[in-house]
Amino acid sequence: MARKIIIDTDPGQDDAVAILLALGSPELDLLGLTVVAGNVPLARTAGNARKVLELAGRRDIPVFAGCDRPIRRRLVTAEHVHGASGLDGIELPEPTMPLQSAHAVDFIIDTLRSHDPGTVSLVPIGPLTNIATAFQRAPDIIARVQEISLMGGAYFEVGNITPAAEFNIHVDPEAAAQVFASGAEITVLPLDVTHKALTSRAWVERMRRLGRIGEAVASWTDFFERYDREKYGSLGAPLHDPCAVAWLIRPDLFAGRFINVEIETEGTYTTGMTVADWWGVSGRAPNATFIRDVDAGGLFDLLSERIARL
Ligand code: RIB
Ligand code: CA
Repeated sequence: MARKIIIDTDPGQDDAVAILLALGSPELDLLGLTVVAGNVPLARTAGNARKVLELAGRRDIPVFAGCDRPIRRRLVTAEHVHGASGLDGIELPEPTMPLQSAHAVDFIIDTLRSHDPGTVSLVPIGPLTNIATAFQRAPDIIARVQEISLMGGAYFEVGNITPAAEFNIHVDPEAAAQVFASGAEITVLPLDVTHKALTSRAWVERMRRLGRIGEAVASWTDFFERYDREKYGSLGAPLHDPCAVAWLIRPDLFAGRFINVEIETEGTYTTGMTVADWWGVSGRAPNATFIRDVDAGGLFDLLSERIARL
């Protein structure tokens, strides 16, 4: 029986690859995409989500627009990383499939309420505004969530948008704090692991030979890589968001610990930091599986094999 998931996303080149991985994996049943403001404003992320689905020939997957700003703060976007469109690297046609009329938060609530408890997982790969808003509005759904597999946070790798904070958490720290305090089963794929999921030239060229979809993945990666190359001097682009999907398909590729993770919401310099108690010194109860390592070769083989199926 395929695992039912909702991907909550702010496409984003790496979000796009994560969505394609989910579509190419029979282990997963993608019930819908809920879109949030993040890398670029909501209007663009809502369009980008539909562009990716139409690229993959999957107009059947419903797309729901969600929150257009964080719970309390002004929106911070990342055009400097993803380009003005959020999907720079290749021109895709404007989407023709419609947005659903329902709000993303209502779709999350209604889907969790209409499926048996423990049968739907949430895969947030952008700021956690939609998820926290759904939990606030309908606390009964929290116990019905099978697992939250989220890309966000950092600890040993520290931040990418500030010295202390990773982008998804930084954009809406109040939302993240609510999700981490919710009691739901959470697996965190932070920068500590995603910075080990670096594309190689050989893999990108292998993608480019896969036809239309592979060409898009290669072009997105070429664009996305320039930022990390300039900043970290790294060879290759970190495919952050696909890690949150790959965890649900092949958890054996990853390693981490069940620890306490708190979100700083009031620090002068540290707001948005995921305070991960890796060494268990705080005495605070563990609330998340914090992933630190990945078999990168196995991850990229999985990506190649699944994207080739589309
Ligand atoms: O920090 C990386 C995260 O921020 C990824 O989800 C990327 O898409 C951006 O949203
Ligand atoms: Ca993202």
